[in-house]
Amino acid sequence: MRTVVIGGKGHVGTYLVPRLVEAGHEVICITRGQREPYQPHAAWASVQQVVLDRAAEETAGTFGARLRDLQPDIVIDMICFTLESARHLVEALRGQVQLFLHCGTIWVHGPSVQVPTTEMQPRRPFGEYGIQKAAIEAYLLQEARTRGFPASALHPGHIVGPGWAPLNPAGHFNPQVFARIACGEELTLPNFGLETVHHVHADDVAQIFMQAIAHWSNAVGESFHVVSSQALSLRGYAESMYAWFGQPARLKFMPWEQYRECVTEQEASATWDHIAHSPNCSIAKAQRLLGFQPRYTSLQAVQESVAWLITHNVITVPSTPISNP
Ligand SMILES: NC(=O)c1ccc[n+]([C@@H]2O[C@H](COP(=O)([O-])OP(=O)(O)OC[C@H]3O[C@@H](n4cnc5c(N)ncnc54)[C@H](OP(=O)(O)O)[C@@H]3O)[C@@H](O)[C@H]2O)c1
Repeated sequence: MRTVVIGGKGHVGTYLVPRLVEAGHEVICITRGQREPYQPHAAWASVQQVVLDRAAEETAGTFGARLRDLQPDIVIDMICFTLESARHLVEALRGQVQLFLHCGTIWVHGPSVQVPTTEMQPRRPFGEYGIQKAAIEAYLLQEARTRGFPASALHPGHIVGPGWAPLNPAGHFNPQVFARIACGEELTLPNFGLETVHHVHADDVAQIFMQAIAHWSNAVGESFHVVSSQALSLRGYAESMYAWFGQPARLKFMPWEQYRECVTEQEASATWDHIAHSPNCSIAKAQRLLGFQPRYTSLQAVQESVAWLITHNVITVPSTPISNP
């Protein structure tokens, strides 16, 4: 298979591209050439790099044709954020590809009704990012089901891995929250700390892309959640991280309106986005139809990532944790 990965050097591409190469794909990776994968891998030596800026090519109306000229069997689109962008690509690739995998997000869902949320539940997205991703999903599935375009949408949760800061127990990305927990300092959480977050390790996201390729006929025309087997409450997440550092949990709770005044605007904005969604998604469909088996629990994924933050001096902690989840 000749497989083009659009945006293949990020969180997911770091794991996905080596997996594709190892499985025998001829891989072409499209990026602007600004970033390197989070980890080196010998497989990258056999990957063809195509440097282009999707945004600029789309403005010029040439992105779809550039893709088609690469003659892919499979296209994996990691960086599609608007319906217009998706339409442009589908029009160019119609009848040309065997499989088209779109990387979506669990933000296609708004507030949960019945949890764990299944892919069948009506979409109630909010925020421009989720609204656009839900529109892309609806469009691609309709194209697949009514016009035979071989698309599938894979929706990750909060992607975690060594090399970047994971979403923390306060629902934002400041890695110093982990340092404070490690020192046994008090951590304030919004409300009762019972709102939820749903992480996934980047390698498990890579795994489901490989499974979708292997189970082509089950994947096309369908969307799948890509998360760990269970979501975490903020409180449970915080308590588990105190325990991992060998510290007693010291938590304080504050109503949202008070809480938001005690953190930076950026932190408040990230926390609000996460607790307003409070994702708790089911992976039963991906397990059943694609054979998806996430290797990491949420805590295992986060702890691997926090261990990286410690060894790379992003955060300083008094002692190295020894317990495993
Ligand atoms: N991060 C999360 O927690 C999360 C959660 C749910 C869903 N998602 C979804 O995951 C997808 C992103 O995957 P990721 O997190 O693996 O990506 P990422 O880490 O953001 O990496 C993006 C990749 O795309 C390339 N890129 C960015 N802009 C480009 C452009 N204009 N033209 C060509 N290449 C470009 C980057 O390389 P250069 O900079 O060198 O171009 C890089 O290789 C998105 O669809 C997002 O909605 C992410």
